[in-house]
Amino acid sequence: MISIETLSYSYPDGTNVLDSIDLELEAGEFVVLVGPNGCGKSTLSRHLNGLLRPTAGSVKVMGMDTRDPSSLWRIRQAVGMVFQDPNVQFIGSTVEEDIAFGLENLALPTADIKRLVSEALEITGMDKYRHISPSSLSGGQKQKAAIAGSLAMGSKFLVLDEVSSMLDSRSCAEVLNMVISLKNKEIGLLYITHRPEEILIADRILVMDQGRIVADGTPLTVIRELGLEHDLFELPPLLKLALKLEDVGVIHLNGHLLSPLTLAEEICRSL
Ligand SMILES: Nc1ncnc2c1ncn2[C@@H]1O[C@H](COP(=O)(O)OP(=O)(O)OP(=O)(O)O)[C@@H](O)[C@H]1O
Ligand SMILES: [Mg+2]
Repeated sequence: MISIETLSYSYPDGTNVLDSIDLELEAGEFVVLVGPNGCGKSTLSRHLNGLLRPTAGSVKVMGMDTRDPSSLWRIRQAVGMVFQDPNVQFIGSTVEEDIAFGLENLALPTADIKRLVSEALEITGMDKYRHISPSSLSGGQKQKAAIAGSLAMGSKFLVLDEVSSMLDSRSCAEVLNMVISLKNKEIGLLYITHRPEEILIADRILVMDQGRIVADGTPLTVIRELGLEHDLFELPPLLKLALKLEDVGVIHLNGHLLSPLTLAEEICRSL
């Protein structure tokens, strides 16, 4: 669905950021992108909807090249982006109006706008806030409303760049659960995060370092491949403990990730 070939990018000031990236992202896939500060995650993500255009190589969204100006509008509809700061993305005076705003620009009939807004509010669990001003929503609700805006526009793919980083842990979990539920709707997700516990929910993790993808696979495969001692991203402490215990033969994960309780039970069993 999104096809990236030998993508390199330098900012106008000459900073080389992306270095020959090849990547395919499928519809309905939940991909988490991690990597150290400044490795190029946001720069890569901004290529997916044509906010940035490749210096070399190509990015194609459903076959449409982001360098083709005549495709840009359809690409931006297909790939929605939500950023870190939930306060900068609203225009309407109510949540409903805000979501409808983008659709009004498409000159759709009023009945269609109403239906699309209602569907997006329902999918994101935001229907009860439709008449509320975006400014009085909580941080997590703002992020959900921003996601609803993209879905109403018909996004088939969402890029979420550290959407949870300014939220408390409860709002963070709420947003994450909603995002996970989008998998059943065949929405593709690229979820950028620095929160260790969010790595494990992915179908696939991509690890970036210095402008390159250095690992790509299921969370456990990638974690096993890179080992426990690296500075590329932080692992959840519980998983580190579990993997270490497995390494020394105390427990067997059998490819499963453990909750604190099941880990405790495994340890007790081995004693
Ligand atoms: N507009 C810009 N002009 C020049 N260099 C930039 C610009 N934006 C980002 N950079 C540089 O590009 C590199 C990659 O930045 P980017 O924001 O993509 O990293 P990131 O992986 O998203 O980091 P973080 O985890 O901190 O969000 C950094 O060295 C950054 O300083
Ligand atoms: Mg970033």
